[in-house]
Parts: sequence; structure tokens; C-alpha cells
Amino acid sequence: MKKQTYIWLALLMPLLSSCVAKTETESAVINSIQLEHSVLSLSKEATKLHVPWDLQYDKVNDAILFSEISGSIRKLDIKTKTVTLIDSLADVYHQRTLGLLGMALYQPEGQQAYLYLSYTSKKDSSIFSNLYRYEYSPEGKLAHPKLLLQIPGNTGHNGSRVIVSTDKKVYWATGDAASDTFAQDSSALNGKILRLNLDGSIPKDNPIANSYVYAWGFRNMQGLTHDAKGMIYTSEHGDAIEDEINLIRPLKNYGWPQIEGMIDTDKEKAIAKRSPRQEPIKSWTPVVAPSGLAYYGSGVIPEWKHSLLLATLKNQSLRILKLSANGQQIVDEKVLFKDQLGRLRSVLTLPNGDIYFCSSNRDWNPQKGFPKPDDDVIYRLRITDKASAPIIKPTTPKAMNNPAKTGQTLYEAYCASCHKADGKGLNNTFPPLANSTLVNGNPKDLLRVVLHGLKDKHIGGAKYESTMPSFSFLKDEDIVEITNYIRTHFGNSASTINQQHLTSLR
Ligand code: HEC
Repeated sequence: MKKQTYIWLALLMPLLSSCVAKTETESAVINSIQLEHSVLSLSKEATKLHVPWDLQYDKVNDAILFSEISGSIRKLDIKTKTVTLIDSLADVYHQRTLGLLGMALYQPEGQQAYLYLSYTSKKDSSIFSNLYRYEYSPEGKLAHPKLLLQIPGNTGHNGSRVIVSTDKKVYWATGDAASDTFAQDSSALNGKILRLNLDGSIPKDNPIANSYVYAWGFRNMQGLTHDAKGMIYTSEHGDAIEDEINLIRPLKNYGWPQIEGMIDTDKEKAIAKRSPRQEPIKSWTPVVAPSGLAYYGSGVIPEWKHSLLLATLKNQSLRILKLSANGQQIVDEKVLFKDQLGRLRSVLTLPNGDIYFCSSNRDWNPQKGFPKPDDDVIYRLRITDKASAPIIKPTTPKAMNNPAKTGQTLYEAYCASCHKADGKGLNNTFPPLANSTLVNGNPKDLLRVVLHGLKDKHIGGAKYESTMPSFSFLKDEDIVEITNYIRTHFGNSASTINQQHLTSLR
């Protein structure tokens, strides 16, 4: 090349790149979503991520800030779609469900902005959950970390999400750290909604003097959001049954572990009679594994105005939960993307009415057919004039008792998320039911495990970190169907079980 050409290029380059920056990069629309009146388009905004856990909107830089579970914080520029690294946190302890989890970006007009982060760390053999505050500069740099709170953690049930609500207070939804007592102990900080000042001190108007505790009795919350008036909602993982959406009120006890979901068994009613317990505003059995939650208050998508948007993991869907006018009830539920995009982790609504959400297919428990080469992905939903891609429509959730209850449908509803559809389990996490001595052995030993659950047992020389929940809530005939299904599938061929085997085991 001649010297002259170089000069021309050098002059042209800044011009060319500024042109690119000005025009918004249009992403390919994957699907058009037909609502009652509006049409939305679904597009991929960022791909090949590693378990993005939380999404936040940086209004100063018009960017999506996201945490990834192994400890990085990155930024997606909305217009150019470039992804840049902001920071990698060296002391994040990542394993299975542990790592860098929830965050909240607080950007008040003309004042110092803060990024609140919740993550697990490990010292010697102890695990902790930490709430940190970083200063966030207008250029999007992190500085001056301050540890606001450190509480016990565990190999599971570490929550967690964090928000700054309309009252300028920080709310931290903590997990019960798999403890039997923390959630009901008002002096412990696990299994709680904690309320802090922006600097981490205890607010003077907290419901218990000199305590961070705002509400208690929670198991493992993975969704936390607030509406324009400061009403706070959570999503929470149940054990084998009763995933929940809760409306959070000060000083209320949400019941875990004595009460699961609605107060509907005789035992639960007796407990609630002795001292009041708060019921969820929605519960799901079979479980959906609810994760990120975002309030949609915008009128841009009129059908969804005043709804909670919920990302689910096990159920692999985005759910639109329409709120009643006073926000105290969920009056309608719609399901989108069922099994299409895999596990969904987090959802975010923007002031302009756009919705961003992300998949979590590279996490510890990938579902059948995932991850895809592009995973994990940040998706965008945006209103549009007309459909330009294959049309999909939201559906109403399947009525629970409708589908024929065969051994297979029951197994898929209650067991397959852990032991997998083919009964092969998941390395070091869930044991295989195929060729299991217990599954093929004495009926009563098998029924005992299904009825009462199992913990810390060595199976075939392996130790599994998680626990097997109790399924005593299932009817006798359903348990018989399931156990016979697993005894005659996955290569197993044991004798059949009947209801008589169950008597005396309950
Ligand atoms: C949330 C995950 C989860 C679900 C859902 C679940 N299990 Fe398990 N299951 C486990 C874990 C973890 C273990 C191992 C526990 C241990 O090591 O102590 C286990 C162990 C078992 C065992 C013992 C296996 C052996 O070889 O000893 C059987 C049988 C079993 N589960 C059956 C079922 C059935 C039937 C269902 C559905 C009704 C079910 N499980 C649902 C997690 C789960």
C-alpha cells in the first residue's frame, strides 16, 4: 500500500467507526410473540456467556450490567451490543449453585452511584454469603469495596437477590443455608429479608430495633423485586412441593420450615393458629423452580402492565403473573417459551418498556438438549408493529390434575428434574435410579426413601451433596405408580409394588 492510502485510511477510520456507533445494530428476530393486541419481537443480544445470574440497567451508559456466577461483572452496550469486562472478583467461591449471585445498581441523579453485590466466599472450611457495596463511577468502573454484611453460607440454599427500593433502603433476600433452625430464629440473619441503609447500617425505622431483620421464615429465595410504590415481592424455591411468590410485609413470618406454601394441612393450620403465619400469594406444585422476578409497570405492553415477570429454571419458561389492582393477589398466569430456551435465570424491565432476560444452561443442572452452542444468552423482548418471524403465543398453565396420572407423567413432574428422564442422574449430584440396588430391592426400603427422603447416604461408593426431599404429600396410588415406573424402566426389571406395601410406612 502507498503511504498516501495509509493517510486516507487513518482519516477515514474514526469517521467509519462513529457511523457504526450511531446506527443501532439490529439483531435478528427469533420469534414474534402475539399477545391479545400487541406483537413483541424476541432477539438475542449477547451469546456464549457463562451463567449470567443478575441483570441491571445502567441508565447513564445505556447498558445492561450482568454478573456471571464464577465472579465476573460485564457490561452489554445496548446500542452497539459490545460486551466488556468491568471486573473479576477474586474471592468469589464458585461451586454448583454458589458464586456471584444477585446485584443491585443504585444510580441517584447527581450523586455517587453504588453497585451492591451478593456472593459466596470460603475461608478454611467455612462458606459465607457476603453483601458488598462498590462505588460505581460514571464511566462504569468499580472502586472502594465495602463489606456490609457477612452471614453463614452452605453448599446450597444461599439465596440470593438484592434490591434498593423506593425508600432508598437495601433489601437482601438471604437463604436459610440449609439449616433447620435459622429461618425461624429472629436473631439469625439467614432465611430472612434484611433491610439496610445505603451504607450498611441498620435503619432507625426497622421493625425490630437494632436488627436488620425485616421479615422471616424463608427457605431459598432467588427472585426479589418492587413496584413503583415500594411493594416488595419475592420468589422462593420450595422443597419437593410449593414453590412460592410472596408479598413482603414487615415483621411477618412466612412459615418455613414448619409451613410449606399455603397453610393447608392440619399440622400447618394448628401451627398458624398458635402464632400467625403469612401465606404466599401464589404457590406451585409440582415445582417450577422460580428464579428472577421483575415488576412490569410500563404501559408500553398494555397486556402486561402491572404484572410480575418470572424466570423459571426447572420449568424452563417465562411466566407473566398479572397482579390485582391493589397488588395483593395474582389474578392470571401466562407461560412463554416453555422448553424452548432452556433454564431461565433472571429478568429485567427497562424504563422504555423493553424486557431483558437470560438463560442459565451452563449451570450445575442442565436440562435435556441444553446447553446449545450459543448458550448462555441474554434475550430482549420489545414491542413491534408487525410479526417478522415465526409466531408464538403465551399459553395458560396446564391444569395440575388434568393430565392422565401415569407412572411416567408423575415421574416427569416430581423426579426427572433431578434423576433425569432417562434415570441416569447427574454426576456427584443426583444418583442414578438405573441399576440401583435399592430401586430393584425390597419394596419397603424403596418406599421408605420416597416417603421420607434421604440425606448423607453413600450410594454405590459415592456421596451426593444434595438431599432427597420427602414425597409423603403424594397420594398412595401415585407413589405406587411412580415406584413401579422406576422399577420397570431404565433397564430395571423388579417385581411390582402394591398399596399394601405402603401400610405401616406412613
Ligand atoms: C431435588 C432433587 C430430587 C428429586 C426431585 C428427587 N430426588 Fe431422589 N434423590 C435425590 C438425591 C440427592 C438422592 C441421594 C441422597 C443421598 O445421597 O443421601 C436421591 C436418592 C434417591 C433414591 C435412592 C437411590 C439409591 O440407589 O439408593 C431413590 C430411590 C430416589 N431418590 C427416588 C426418587 C423418586 C421416585 C423421586 C420422585 C418422586 C425422586 N427421587 C425425586 C434427589 C432428588
